[in-house]
Amino acid sequence: MDKIVVRGGVSLHGEITVSGAKNAALPLVFASLLTDGECTLQRVPHLVDIRTALRLLRDLGVQYDWLSDNHLALCARTVRHYEAPYALVKTMRASFLVLGPLLARFGRARVSTPGGCAIGARPVNIHLDGLQRLGASIRLHHGYVEAQAKRLRGAYIPLDFPSVGATENLMMAATLADGTTVIDNAAREPEIEDLATMLNAMGARITGAGTPTITIDGVDSLHGAVHEVIPDRVEAGTFLIAGAITSGDLFVRGARADHLTTFLAKLRETGTHVEEQAGGIRVVGTGRPSGVEIITRPYPGFPTDLQAQTMAFLCLGDGRSVITETIFENRFLHAQELVRLGADIRLAGNTAIVHGVAMLSGAPVMATDLRASVSLILAGLAADGITEVSRVYHLDRGYERIEEKLASLGADIRRIKE
Ligand code: UD1
Repeated sequence: MDKIVVRGGVSLHGEITVSGAKNAALPLVFASLLTDGECTLQRVPHLVDIRTALRLLRDLGVQYDWLSDNHLALCARTVRHYEAPYALVKTMRASFLVLGPLLARFGRARVSTPGGCAIGARPVNIHLDGLQRLGASIRLHHGYVEAQAKRLRGAYIPLDFPSVGATENLMMAATLADGTTVIDNAAREPEIEDLATMLNAMGARITGAGTPTITIDGVDSLHGAVHEVIPDRVEAGTFLIAGAITSGDLFVRGARADHLTTFLAKLRETGTHVEEQAGGIRVVGTGRPSGVEIITRPYPGFPTDLQAQTMAFLCLGDGRSVITETIFENRFLHAQELVRLGADIRLAGNTAIVHGVAMLSGAPVMATDLRASVSLILAGLAADGITEVSRVYHLDRGYERIEEKLASLGADIRRIKE
């Protein structure tokens, strides 16, 4: 397993371009299952999670081709299987998103349940309840969801919680249902809007994506389309913190302020200078951040996917910060590793109390999940001496060439292949 070695203390300067959003690209590649036409996606990031999705699609019979660096063509004319195996779904929960499209187009699907993961139990009850409302018969058998429906029927689906994955699965399934579906209390993330834009380009009739009520008028079939994936707001936020934590000056090209409103407001509250400019966001670090209070919430609230990175920054704060995680029950695994770097963090249930310290000191640490890994790299960029982050395979799931990108901004960072 590779390691990332960072020597801290260098201010980052320059310009960096954000890649396409992982969390948008994953449902978009799975949406190709809804048509026998060719779907072409631009700005697809090269990530382990995308490779896992493509492996699953290839096993199902989908053909794909990288036309150029981040330009991917997919065609699901001939689908041979309707099954997503445990081995893939357990490594990447988003594989569960093949369920809606397979069921809608072929009337059947067999998809492993994802099981738990490091950050929590993560059940799929909201997905399954919604599909049942669309008329699917669902049976749980030997760890698999077996779903069938001659043709799905439009329905009213109120969600207990605005789950991102369930909204995506149900929106995809409903495009080919007979009649109108209304998803209430839907997730409002930009990735949902991006998926709806692509589905509409394929001939779907979806309105309201980005609001709590999404309406989908079912159609008989969809066709191919060309679509550009939105920039990754989590990667953008991560680079903004990299600039702030190193007291640097960065221009993050492609970062969209309208996708990061709550996060940017918090960053400003810490005293960091953040400026929206044409084509991106500039950040200028201004030294130790003021302590702030953060509560993660569904979009447009503070994103759970930027909680770990923000915690790393607040560890160096001038004052006390309180971070409450409400989306996942076990998403503070990075805290103990940050403590190894000298941070003062106390955990009480889903709340972390961070007393800022003047300096962190480099040490060997271990990554436990995707966003935790990058928070340790951010802390390492600011820490005194060398920080060695092991188990970085988590990082490769969600960040495209991160060490190269950070090195291009002046960071002293390298990957050691093992
Ligand atoms: C997506 C993102 C992930 C992000 C998360 C929350 C992708 C590929 N991943 O994950 O990066 O952290 O949104 O913004 O887009 N839940 C249930 N029952 C369900 C579904 C979800 O109880 O049927 C719970 C989960 O256990 C979790 C919470 O709802 O506690 C949020 O999950 P959800 O919004 O579904 O996240 P994902 O789509 O898995």
